Amino acid sequence: MSDPSPTRPTLGITALGMYVPERVVPNSDFEARMDTNADWIESRTGIRERRFAAPEQYTSDVGVLAVRDLLRRDPQALQGVDAVICATVSPDALMPSTAALIAMQVGLTGAAAFDLSTACSGFVYALSVAQGLILAGSARRVLVVGAEALSKIVDQNDRNTAILFGDGAGAAVVGPVPAGYGFQDFIMGADGNGGSSLYLRCVAPTLPGGFQMGDSVGMNGREVFKFAVRALGDSGTQVLAKSGLTTADVDWVIPHQANVRIIEAAMDRFGLPMSKTIVNLDRYGNTSSATVPLVLREGVDAGQITDGQQLLLIAFGGGLSWVAGTMKWWGGAPSLTADSKAQQQAEVNA
Ligand code: UT7
Repeated sequence: MSDPSPTRPTLGITALGMYVPERVVPNSDFEARMDTNADWIESRTGIRERRFAAPEQYTSDVGVLAVRDLLRRDPQALQGVDAVICATVSPDALMPSTAALIAMQVGLTGAAAFDLSTACSGFVYALSVAQGLILAGSARRVLVVGAEALSKIVDQNDRNTAILFGDGAGAAVVGPVPAGYGFQDFIMGADGNGGSSLYLRCVAPTLPGGFQMGDSVGMNGREVFKFAVRALGDSGTQVLAKSGLTTADVDWVIPHQANVRIIEAAMDRFGLPMSKTIVNLDRYGNTSSATVPLVLREGVDAGQITDGQQLLLIAFGGGLSWVAGTMKWWGGAPSLTADSKAQQQAEVNA
């Protein structure tokens, strides 16, 4: 870890939960309403199916269910949480914040609450912001939620975007972890020049310079693809150097799940095999700010991510934005043990 301070507490993830909606949407569902086919989607993206929220289910709802999952695994997990950050690009409203709506429903009324808007980079950005709040003495523990109901903001007849995105949420508590574990370094960045590559209109009809935006997500897929490969490779390499690490030290690369070909290209740049990363976009598609916590939660549940392992988190998104983080996984908390899901299932069956 760079610039370690003897008084600086080590911070990391102390609890983790996830939720994906029940409705499974396979690639074949798109064939009827647009000029595409299931094989094209799978071969060009790696996506086989995604989840869509119910008509009355919005981002705060999926976010709350991810927090409830975290609480089922560790009922004490929210003790000491006095700030809530919701990373989302599909908030219920511009105001109130989705974070305030989630806080209200999980017993955290009164905690600081705000949304963070860096699209798919949002969850990892928010981990860094949470660390900063705690180190500044502004919070003791922070609940970070990455939640999206992207199916509501994507034109379901636009083959450029509709096939890519899904709904879901992940929730993590950031707090003190034992020395030698937790967050090491983060690298964050953004470049508004790439704003017209991935956009959604809100108040202004155009971006600075006059680029016209529409009322659903717009995207220049090829531009985003090229940017993503460069951003993931560069920021991942930079953050490893900042932490005094090399790719040989990395047990798992945890990437934003947008397109398996982007992940393959990034792993290639790191000189690492695909066996060093975890991919679940085949089942969930791109859930924007939820992808990284979904991969972390499933990786722990599958017994892949274990105590003391070196993780490299990398993500990119609208802005355009990018983020990378190094973290030693702490598996000591009740919600972070690999068998918690099995225990939960056993309780349900009992
Ligand atoms: O979190 C960030 C969010 N966004 C992304 O990460 C997007 C990054 N970009 C990508 O994942 C890829 O660029 C896409 C999956 C969006 C597109 O894949 P591609 O291999 O870059 O395709 P392309 O845009 O180069 O298009 C190749 C062909 C074109 O036809 P022509 O011009 O060669 O005749 C497209 O019109 O594929 C066509 N095409 C489709 N065909 C069937 C584009 N979308 C589709 C589709 N089904 N859904």
